[in-house]
Amino acid sequence: MTVTELKTIRTDQVVPPPPILAIIMDGNGRWAQARGLPREEGHREGAKVVRNITEYCREAGVKTLYLYAFSEQNWCRPPEEIAALMGLLEEFLIEEIPTMLENGIRLGVIGDPARLPEETRAALARALEATRSCTEMNLVLSLSYGGREELVRAAVRLAKTGLAPEQWRESSLANQLDTAPYGDPDLLIRTGGEMRLSNFLLWQCSYCELHFSQTPWPAFEREELRDIFALYVQRQRRFGQTPGQVWAKERVR
Ligand code: FPP
Repeated sequence: MTVTELKTIRTDQVVPPPPILAIIMDGNGRWAQARGLPREEGHREGAKVVRNITEYCREAGVKTLYLYAFSEQNWCRPPEEIAALMGLLEEFLIEEIPTMLENGIRLGVIGDPARLPEETRAALARALEATRSCTEMNLVLSLSYGGREELVRAAVRLAKTGLAPEQWRESSLANQLDTAPYGDPDLLIRTGGEMRLSNFLLWQCSYCELHFSQTPWPAFEREELRDIFALYVQRQRRFGQTPGQVWAKERVR
């Protein structure tokens, strides 16, 4: 079912959101280029949408929001674009602290932030520290993040624990992932029309519901997110079971 097929579903009613949401914010560059603007303007507009959508998720009751802000592979972009993105990130980290505190939003980070420029790292450290006691929602930025790189880091950490390989379980590795404090996403949205994961949360998306939106990130609005949540609640998550088994369990609840 697509968002356009939602006409039969009343979307004015409050629907429970996915507790853990992940978003690949794609389409900034194309949005800008289609308007004859430099790509950096797409990112600037995208940063405004980050503010708006984070606020909406907090209001809707999302517990953790993962945002793919800068991938490990993004380091190969032109230096001017990387500098613009780092500048926007720094601005966001400085300006948003009061709003995050007001709304009980705790900042988190996954990836390899040691690679970020010093000023960005300093702003990040301040925002992480300032919001560490907030409990309403986690906003987890993926910075210099790659899913495969994260898996290698986790494997190295696990090997260093000294636990005998015969004792390794799925949870042994999961506990070493950057995402261990937050958990696996229930729903992943990618904006911008492409249908791929681009090295984002590869392990964590095993049973995640996926939604691909044609809308470029700078044009993504709350209403579309609300509609996507309305579609999400209608999905039956089976985790390998048959539909009948899931219905039987739901009846008991
Ligand atoms: C992908 O679009 C987007 C990014 C690589 C960066 C996302 C960054 C922001 C939305 C702004 C800064 C972030 C925060 C948290 C304040 P793209 O450039 O690949 O778009 P394209 O596919 O159209 O070229």
